[in-house]
Amino acid sequence: MYGATIPKWLIGDLRSDHAGETGAVWIYRGILFVSSDRSVRDFAERHLISERRHLREIEVLLPPADRSRLLPIWRIAGFITGALPALAGSRSVFHTVEAVEAFVDSHYAAQIQKLEPNGDSRQSLNVIRAVLVGCRGDEIEHYNEARQLATSRPGPVGRLWCALVALGSELAVAFARRI
Ligand SMILES: [Fe+2]
Ligand SMILES: [Fe+2]
Repeated sequence: MYGATIPKWLIGDLRSDHAGETGAVWIYRGILFVSSDRSVRDFAERHLISERRHLREIEVLLPPADRSRLLPIWRIAGFITGALPALAGSRSVFHTVEAVEAFVDSHYAAQIQKLEPNGDSRQSLNVIRAVLVGCRGDEIEHYNEARQLATSRPGPVGRLWCALVALGSELAVAFARRI
């Protein structure tokens, strides 16, 4: 289906999804680079597999020419977003993933709503919508799992970090839509 079937208005959205899933893969690479905690590594290894699958699914939809030109930056930002909390410990990792996934859930929900089937809905849009619905379902599971494993709410520093992560995600999406 590549390219030609994606309407112009949707390319920015998919570019931001592709950038986001790239960042997600690198978050878990950052966590795995730093952490030796068994439960964190098990969590990150499983999530890395599902983020890689999301990335592949969006790669199938979005041709290379339409992808973000800032991908190296999204990889580095993702790596840091995973590695830094991993240095601070397992709870920080789970709080960070919770913050990221809460953002991603609403990001995908807004796009899915835009693709709601209507009278003139095209088959290609239904395919794209199904991919996004599948990704969002996984992200909600990731969110729930991280929230459960964190066992307690973040303290003031953790809350500040999570707010920064949410703000960074929002800025990254705004840039990736355009560049
Ligand atoms: Fe994902
Ligand atoms: Fe995820």
